[in-house]
Amino acid sequence: MKYDIKNIKLAPGGKKRIEWAGKDMPVLNQIKEEFAKRKPFAGKKMSACLHVTAETANLARTLKAGGADLLLCASNPLSTQDDVAASLVKDYGISVFAIKGEKRDSYYKHLRAAMDHKPEITMDDGADLISLLHSDYKKWAPKILGSMEETTTGVIRLRALEKAGKLLLPVIAVNDAKTKNMFDNRYGTGQSTLDGIIRATDMLIAGKNVVIAGYGWCGRGMAMRARGMGAKVIITEIDEIKALEAAMDGFQVMPMKEAAKIGDLFCTLTGNIHILRTEHFKVMKSGAVVCNSGHFDVEIDIPALTKMAQKINKNVRNFVDEYVIKGKSIYLLAQGRLINLAAAEGHPASVMDMSFSTQALASEYAVKNSKHLEKKVYKVPEEIEIKVAKLKLKSMGITIDQLTGEQKKYLVSWNMGT
Ligand code: ADE
Repeated sequence: MKYDIKNIKLAPGGKKRIEWAGKDMPVLNQIKEEFAKRKPFAGKKMSACLHVTAETANLARTLKAGGADLLLCASNPLSTQDDVAASLVKDYGISVFAIKGEKRDSYYKHLRAAMDHKPEITMDDGADLISLLHSDYKKWAPKILGSMEETTTGVIRLRALEKAGKLLLPVIAVNDAKTKNMFDNRYGTGQSTLDGIIRATDMLIAGKNVVIAGYGWCGRGMAMRARGMGAKVIITEIDEIKALEAAMDGFQVMPMKEAAKIGDLFCTLTGNIHILRTEHFKVMKSGAVVCNSGHFDVEIDIPALTKMAQKINKNVRNFVDEYVIKGKSIYLLAQGRLINLAAAEGHPASVMDMSFSTQALASEYAVKNSKHLEKKVYKVPEEIEIKVAKLKLKSMGITIDQLTGEQKKYLVSWNMGT
């Protein structure tokens, strides 16, 4: 078996973490049992480019139980949990190509290994693997039955490919499923982003001006949790509706240029480039902490920050770099990469349970329906979402009401009015 990981000797610690996370993933565990019987991926090669975490390890075990010959590589150079990678190789016989802190060359070498595996099914978190396929591995595209995409940024890239008429294979936008974004993006990001910030800085959130750029599901989640910890939350937005929503949710809304002057902590969650840039760094208070929880490290203009700084003190604390600008200090966390996965452990297993169950079932659907799927970006079928939601509710011991016969009739009638 081929692999490239930090150290195989880290496996025992990784195994414990994989098992611990698995305890909080009841829906995925049930799907794993179903897959072990149905073997939907029997004889199929699969490459997954995901954050290599304990939760992903449980997805990998599920896909393997379904018969997949799986290779896993990292979807971010800083998010790999090296002990988990070691255990996947040693204890579960899964090829892993991922090392925490790897440089760009190594990251792309690992993506190439994932393509050289000759996958018939792929999975992405940010579309880097599919993007590589669309540049250097185009010839392989017809062999791919379907590709799953886990995150907002990846779906944006794939829709851009589709719009340009250049998408070479069918894609399922797992991110867009309600069982993914309403829970993972909101409650997962909300909690894990603050977890990463606190682990990196040990700062007190209560009483701080916390500036959150972007009020999508991730921004909403973080705003909700930061308020819960006593922060004075300020939202910046470019979308009128989201800005209104933030205002009516009780947050202050203002342009970044204003927020930059008063923020103690800044976090970008927009999926766009250079949200924090020179004009903002110029007016920030000394001691301001800036970080990003969007997929790519482009949301903070780090080259501009570097250019402005007279001095950079790297690693004043783990994951914290100090930029000294005209005597004031700005602290950048995790080199502007995903703070929740770099400095903490990503979203808790309980929420990844839903995302990865949706991933697993979407992959089975893509294989089963590959003959009918065109080179388009598809939604996750509703039956899958309902199955995941039902199983999650069951695992939480929650039962809900059913429509009565009279109510069902009422919902399809038009003649009963005032
Ligand atoms: N994305 C966010 N949190 C994650 C986790 N714990 N595992 C995999 N991908 C993630």
